Amino acid sequence: MQVHQASLSTVLRYLETEGQRPLEVHERDFRKLLRLVSRFHPLGAGTRLLEVGIGTGWFLVLCARNGLECVGLDISPELIDFVGKRAAQSSVRLDLRLGNIEETALDRGAFDVVVAESVFEHVEDWRRGLANVAASLRPGGVLIFCSTNRFSPWSGEFPQLPLYGWLPNRIRYWLRRTLEGPDVMRLGIDFHQFTYGTVRQALQETGFSRVYDIADLLDPERLNQPTWWKVALLRAMRRSPIVKRIMLTFWPATELVAVK
Ligand SMILES: C[S@@+](CC[C@H](N)C(=O)[O-])C[C@H]1O[C@@H](n2cnc3c(N)ncnc32)[C@H](O)[C@@H]1O
Repeated sequence: MQVHQASLSTVLRYLETEGQRPLEVHERDFRKLLRLVSRFHPLGAGTRLLEVGIGTGWFLVLCARNGLECVGLDISPELIDFVGKRAAQSSVRLDLRLGNIEETALDRGAFDVVVAESVFEHVEDWRRGLANVAASLRPGGVLIFCSTNRFSPWSGEFPQLPLYGWLPNRIRYWLRRTLEGPDVMRLGIDFHQFTYGTVRQALQETGFSRVYDIADLLDPERLNQPTWWKVALLRAMRRSPIVKRIMLTFWPATELVAVK
């Protein structure tokens, strides 16, 4: 996949909706992500964090406001430009880089934390991108990976159509091209619908020593909004590998934390 200098209709549409949302709207998700990272790595003034696929930059700007040293990599010049302006308005300093995660040279062992939220489904050669991320982390560094989950009944990529992720690639591509125009194949299409098994194995092969899934991460006794069924489900996932496997197959996203 290449960097497209020309304006893409998919990016303009994304900015028209997501770009209008104030930073404060993201505060809760930001706190949640930071709490998750800090379970695996202490966060402080010297922490170097890379976000791959920065979108509208809400996460990076909020991180920088909290004193982290932030680098952002994105394939879209328009998004880099948008986030640069957003950072200036918020009086924070971000190191923004234009490029494709498949091939952009990153310093080896330079980062404590890499966050890749809703991005790897768009990376054509995702294994190459993942290897690049792994090499850029220090030993003990943490990757937060969140992406599509193929057999989820609803996909965030196209929520209008139940079982969208179950469709073969060429049908998904045809559908999105027909409804959204040819630019979607340049940026926006989900080339990949993942499964927990595929990503977990790739992370292990790429050199991560520990990989945690959602059943490991969510403590049924310490949920923010506990309901009897959520607690019961999580307890069952922790007790039974079969229940866990079934639940992860249909979970809304593939959410993993990997430690190098
Ligand atoms: C759906 S947005 C997610 C943005 C942000 N992480 C969030 O959660 O709000 C996907 C982002 O990944 C970027 N992207 C897609 N493919 C990429 C690639 N191969 N290399 C770097 N960035 C990429 C897109 O330009 C876009 O900013």
